[in-house]
Amino acid sequence: MKIIVTGGAGFIGSHIVDAYIKAGHKVVVIDNLLTGFRKNLNKKAKFYKADIRDSATILRIFKKERPEVVNHHAAIAEVAKSLRDPLPTLEVNVLGTANLLNNFGKYGRGARRFIFASTGGAIYGEPKNLPASEKTPVNPLSPYGLSKKLGEDLIEYYAKQHDFEFVIFRYSNVYGPRQNPKGEAGVVAIFGGLMRLKQRPIIFGDGSKTRDYVFVSDVVHANMLALQKGTGKRMNIGRGERVSDRDIFDAVSSELRYSDKPIYKPFRKGEVRHISLDAKLAKKTIGWQPQVNLGAGIRKALSR
Ligand SMILES: NC(=O)c1ccc[n+]([C@@H]2O[C@H](COP(=O)([O-])OP(=O)(O)OC[C@H]3O[C@@H](n4cnc5c(N)ncnc54)[C@H](O)[C@@H]3O)[C@@H](O)[C@H]2O)c1
Repeated sequence: MKIIVTGGAGFIGSHIVDAYIKAGHKVVVIDNLLTGFRKNLNKKAKFYKADIRDSATILRIFKKERPEVVNHHAAIAEVAKSLRDPLPTLEVNVLGTANLLNNFGKYGRGARRFIFASTGGAIYGEPKNLPASEKTPVNPLSPYGLSKKLGEDLIEYYAKQHDFEFVIFRYSNVYGPRQNPKGEAGVVAIFGGLMRLKQRPIIFGDGSKTRDYVFVSDVVHANMLALQKGTGKRMNIGRGERVSDRDIFDAVSSELRYSDKPIYKPFRKGEVRHISLDAKLAKKTIGWQPQVNLGAGIRKALSR
C-alpha cells in the first residue's frame, strides 16, 4: 500500500515507518523536523520536509502521492509546552490535522484509511476509576489533551463526509529508543540523558505521580494491525499498570548505575496525577496485547 506517515522523522513515527517498509509498503514521510531528526528517516521512504499546516504544500503532496493510508503522528506532543503557550499546539494538532483530512478526503485512493495517534494519558483528565477504559468521559486538562480530542472529532467528521475509514489510538506514555532526551516529555529518555551527563534529573511533584508506560515496539505492532483492523474505533493502548516517577527514576538509575538523588520541583498544573489505561478493547478488536514489560523495555530504551 502507499502510506503517508506524518511525523515519520520523530520518535514513534520513525519506528512505524521502518515496520511498514519492512512489510513491503511504499512510505512517504511528511515532517517539518521541529522535534524530529533526519537521522531517524528510513532511506527507503520518500521524504517531504513540510509543515502539515501549509495548505498549498500539503495539497501538492496529496495530489502527487495519492495515498491509500495516512498514518498521522506529526504533532506538538508536550503537555508542559502547550500549557505555557497553547496556540502553536492547537494550530498544529487541530488545524494541521484538518488540513490533512481535507486533502485525504479529496485525493486519497483505494481503501482509504486514516490512522491517528491520540492520547490516553492526557484526554481523560483525572478519572475516578483506573485503569480508564474508552467509556471514561473525556476531560482534557491541557491544550495538548484538548487538541487531541478535537483531532479525534475532526477525523470522525471528515471520515463521514468523505466516506473513508479511520482508527484512533489513545496511547499511554510511550518510551523506547530514539525518544528525544532533550524534550520535555518522555521521562525514561530525559532521566537517562541527564544521568549519563552526571546531572541530576528533576521530578515535578513528590515522585508519586503515576503513568502507564508502553514500549514503542508494542505501539508499532498496533499500527501494523490497524492497516486491516479496528475500523471506526477509538482504542486505548497501554499496559494498565501505574508506575510512579520515582519507580522510573530508580529503574533508570539502576540500569545506568547512577547513585545521586533527583531534584524535586513543584507539581505542574495541568499535568495529570494518576493515569493508566484499560486496553481490553484493543485486545478484543484488533488482537493487540503488550509484549514488553517495563524492566526489559527500559533496558532496550537505554541500550546503545
Ligand atoms: N510519546 C508519547 O508518549 C505519546 C503518547 C500519546 C500520544 N503521542 C502522540 O504520538 C505522536 C508522535 O509522538 P512522539 O513522541 O514520537 O513525538 P515526536 O516529537 O518525536 O514526533 C512528532 C513529529 O512531528 C513532527 N512535527 C511537529 N510539528 C509538525 C508540523 N507542523 N508539520 C510536520 N511535522 C511536524 C516533528 O518534527 C516530529 O518528528 C504525536 O502525535 C503524539 O501526540 C505520543
